[in-house]
Amino acid sequence: MGIINFGSLNIDRVYKVSHFVRPGETISSESYKCFPGGKGLNQSIAIARAGAKVAHAGTIGTDGGFLKDLLEQSGVDTRYIRESDNVTGHALIQVSEEGENCIILFKGTNFENDRNFIDEVLENFDKEDILVLQNEINNLDYLLQCGKQKGMRILLNASPVDEKLKNMDLSGVTWLMVNETEGLVITGKSRPERIVRQLLEDYPSMNVILTLGTGGSIYQSKGKKIYQPCFPAQTVDTTAAGDTFTGYFIASVLAGKNREEALETASCAAAVAVSREGAAVSIPVYTEVEKKMFLEKRKAGE
Ligand code: RIB
Repeated sequence: MGIINFGSLNIDRVYKVSHFVRPGETISSESYKCFPGGKGLNQSIAIARAGAKVAHAGTIGTDGGFLKDLLEQSGVDTRYIRESDNVTGHALIQVSEEGENCIILFKGTNFENDRNFIDEVLENFDKEDILVLQNEINNLDYLLQCGKQKGMRILLNASPVDEKLKNMDLSGVTWLMVNETEGLVITGKSRPERIVRQLLEDYPSMNVILTLGTGGSIYQSKGKKIYQPCFPAQTVDTTAAGDTFTGYFIASVLAGKNREEALETASCAAAVAVSREGAAVSIPVYTEVEKKMFLEKRKAGE
């Protein structure tokens, strides 16, 4: 049993700014850094750093070799990463003084995953395995369909959300990770409890994990509701917080933790990630997460 993550690989160009650029305005950034990123890559790294076995599938261009190297160094199986002659996907990220971000994506080779390639990769996996997906590559609807047909358990992180995703068949999804914005696009509902209720009405066997930023997260499935508060953190950069949460959550489930423990571990890992700059490079290893959980519980007198 293992995890196959079919997902994006990006080069993140990160600009630290005093505020997000406004229409018609030109601003200078305080700093510029180039980081490995992409929701897919970040999630694979989080899964591997949490201690689970994961293979990553996706496409990089001629400039993306360092992304594959980082995955390998982090313990991710990279045999399903294909190389193309084109340009790797990239993200132009503004990070404000409060650590918030806004992102422009260039799809690049993330949109070169054709059906033959998907079939070739998924041939190596079956219903024992977990398929992890995000909405940053092409053919997501086909991947959802193939995963369902194979009886695989699917974790879908609905980020970045778009109208196309709203119309996809999510009936094969075991775990859906959404934030309020994504939940609104998919369900048309704006309040957390309404989003969850609508999703469970449409997909009764789904497990919904709704993340609420500093408000924590809600896990809900038929007959079970859990609330997980956020761990305290000094926010430097929120990029990849959701990816860290997603990766740690599914790795914890695979390791046999119950839902409460998986949510707690994921939430703590995300709190460590936001206290550091960058996407993939900010994702902690398991011992760092364990240490923070221990220290925070001791502080709280638990
Ligand atoms: O979730 C964070 C990621 O979103 C960044 O690494 C960037 O590549 C964008 O895809």
